[in-house]
Amino acid sequence: MAREMLGIDIGGSGIKGAPVDLSDGSLARERFRVDTPHPSKPKAVAKVLAEVVDHFGWDGPVGVTYPGVVIDGVALSAANVSKQWIGLDAASLIADATGREITLLNDADAAGVAEMRLGAGRGRRGTVVLLTLGTGIGSALFTDGVLVPNTEFGHIQIDGRDAEIRASAKARDEHDLSWEKWARRLSEYMVQLEALISPSLIIVGGGVSRKSEHFLPLIEGVRAEIVPARLVNNAGIVGAAMAAAAAHPVETAEPAQIRAAGRAGGRQRANGTAEAAR
Ligand code: BGC
Repeated sequence: MAREMLGIDIGGSGIKGAPVDLSDGSLARERFRVDTPHPSKPKAVAKVLAEVVDHFGWDGPVGVTYPGVVIDGVALSAANVSKQWIGLDAASLIADATGREITLLNDADAAGVAEMRLGAGRGRRGTVVLLTLGTGIGSALFTDGVLVPNTEFGHIQIDGRDAEIRASAKARDEHDLSWEKWARRLSEYMVQLEALISPSLIIVGGGVSRKSEHFLPLIEGVRAEIVPARLVNNAGIVGAAMAAAAAHPVETAEPAQIRAAGRAGGRQRANGTAEAAR
């Protein structure tokens, strides 16, 4: 049976989770969603995370996304959630609340990991950046498929203001911007980002990427190829599950014959190792 891992995505409006089949990134069970508490204080959010874990009766490690900088389980920023998260050992808090081992990572990084493995970034080398357009703008930077975490490109300053304040999907809703007007702001942002990191591919994620035909063709002045994300809704969940799986490699109980074949030829042995690393 394929290995499964529980992934949970903390978003601005909802906290969503599901066990993920790691062989293909599909959801092994229907996803479960609870409204994000407001204010989104750490304890209240951790309680909801415990609810999600209980819903699935999950007893293994869990991958969780956080919408800010995360280093070694500690949250170091909180642009769109309660400031009480800043400096908090969030992974430990969540581990205490859920009774599970927690792998915590930035939400856009999680989405990027999933998109690079199974979606629009599959097999792409060089510099690739995924941008999630939602309440804020999240970013995930990859060089030859390897993640450079916590890039926070949504906070690049344009005309002295955070890019995400002008160009997130929330900004489009709040200011009731037409697709054309919003695409102009996005173009301005992407031109600036391109000047800094020269990506060969920009993947546009977040819920609005489902409507990419309305705005991606209107982006101007950007040399890089721009494509919509493929996993959209579930990218955070899937990426979180993958991150937890990477943090908890399976110990192979290799059957004797595979070990022997591995010594002789190496092929099965290599497969066994790949399986373990998944
Ligand atoms: C945060 C990022 C996050 C993004 C999307 C930004 O405001 O600073 O860490 O990835 O929003 O949630």
